[in-house]
Amino acid sequence: MDVYPRILSRIWGVPGSHTLAVAEQHGAYNAARKALAMSPAEVTDVVLKSGLRGRGGAGFPTGRKWTFVPPPEKRGGKPVYLLCNADESEPGTFKDRFCMWNDPHQLIEGMIIASHALGVRRAYIYLRGEFEYVQRRLDEALAEAYAKGYLGENIFGSGFSFDLYTHLGAGAYICGEETALISSIEGYKGQPRLKPPFPAVKGVWESPTIVNNVETLAAVPWIIENGWEAYKAIGTEQSPGTKLFSCSGHIMKPGVYEIPLGTPMMDLLNKWCGGLRPGRTLKAIIPGGSSVPVMTPAEVAQANMDYESINKVAGSYLGSGGFIVMDDTTDMVDALTNLLRFYAHESCGQCTPCREGSAWMYNILCRLRDGLATEDDLVALRDLADNIHSRTICFFGASAAMPVQSFVTKFRDEFVARVESARAGLPAGLAVAK
Ligand SMILES: Cc1cc2nc3c(=O)[nH]c(=O)nc-3n(C[C@H](O)[C@H](O)[C@H](O)COP(=O)(O)O)c2cc1C
Ligand code: SF4
Repeated sequence: MDVYPRILSRIWGVPGSHTLAVAEQHGAYNAARKALAMSPAEVTDVVLKSGLRGRGGAGFPTGRKWTFVPPPEKRGGKPVYLLCNADESEPGTFKDRFCMWNDPHQLIEGMIIASHALGVRRAYIYLRGEFEYVQRRLDEALAEAYAKGYLGENIFGSGFSFDLYTHLGAGAYICGEETALISSIEGYKGQPRLKPPFPAVKGVWESPTIVNNVETLAAVPWIIENGWEAYKAIGTEQSPGTKLFSCSGHIMKPGVYEIPLGTPMMDLLNKWCGGLRPGRTLKAIIPGGSSVPVMTPAEVAQANMDYESINKVAGSYLGSGGFIVMDDTTDMVDALTNLLRFYAHESCGQCTPCREGSAWMYNILCRLRDGLATEDDLVALRDLADNIHSRTICFFGASAAMPVQSFVTKFRDEFVARVESARAGLPAGLAVAK
């Protein structure tokens, strides 16, 4: 395999990698020392020039997002907050928990650096409700950092003071959406809010707030230590750096892999994931977590793992990097029904198209799965998906619609076969002989 620097997973697998002693042996907090000797504008400039893009799903340039915080004279005396999004509930995505579990000090260091750049005095790591075990590990790491004076008052004698807390959610997928996360941390029901205003201008407690994903913030120390040029030299022009991919499904070696962006998708499948199970052929891959459009083998063969290529080749997205592989044993009607069960359950219920539409889509899919659906149901399914997309407060609606649109279009034969077998009175799943 190609040689490239491991940025995020550098010390994963080293015994005791989560402790301050071991992390420091591998250079932890050197980048924070360096950053605190720089001006906030200089730090932001390095991150901007590195081309780092948000790893929570949308791929928005991180340095650019940081520049959206209004200057002090336009904040009306309000403080700036940094929220680390550690909600990680997207089906097929399990990389952030690896970051926090194996190297919590890397995230803490990234948050110190980001907070210095943004003028933040107090920041929070918002964790998915089920991550109590991760919270315990993070809290231990925070205690170690406080004891050494790496957090709290006058860090490294720089004059910069900064406090960092963990906060556990109550276990709803929608709390990963940044405005729902803000509502939740304020103590309200975790429901998204209309944008604008964007959080960078009016976020938690009506103050300017930057929300960044765990992996995004964990990449910052390496960039500061090695320079933006070194980061830009990895990956592609528009998608620089490395990315963590959570690989699951019908592969020989499921796991989290760090690879340079721009790596051919077939290489991720065959070299890192160990290929398909013996004797099986590829049917489909969902490249970026359950919300993004599914890809066919022909599309997979042409695509690279970066933001541009996946979109150009297959109209899909890199998303959060949840790489879900399905071989020829997969029943696509069953797979989509399973996905929609999740979305129908997790809709927060504020918008009619999302609340009603995701439940309707799930009901139709259950009928298809159970051999009770007609052609009209297939038309209605597609129609519902088309009418949810872009008609809701947050992107959850589109996240429920895109899998339906892509499965039904790209694997149409399987959906039609279910209708035909139902019409022929065959038991669910049995195809009509051709
Ligand atoms: C339904 C939904 C769920 C989301 N879940 C997560 C999540 O679990 N973790 C995350 O970092 N971002 C999630 N996002 C994206 C966040 O809203 C936000 O864009 C991200 O945290 C910004 O960080 P980044 O710029 O570092 O990517 C979700 C978005 C939507 C619409
Ligand atoms: S799109 Fe769905 S999840 Fe998002 S606010 Fe509307 S109802 Fe809630």
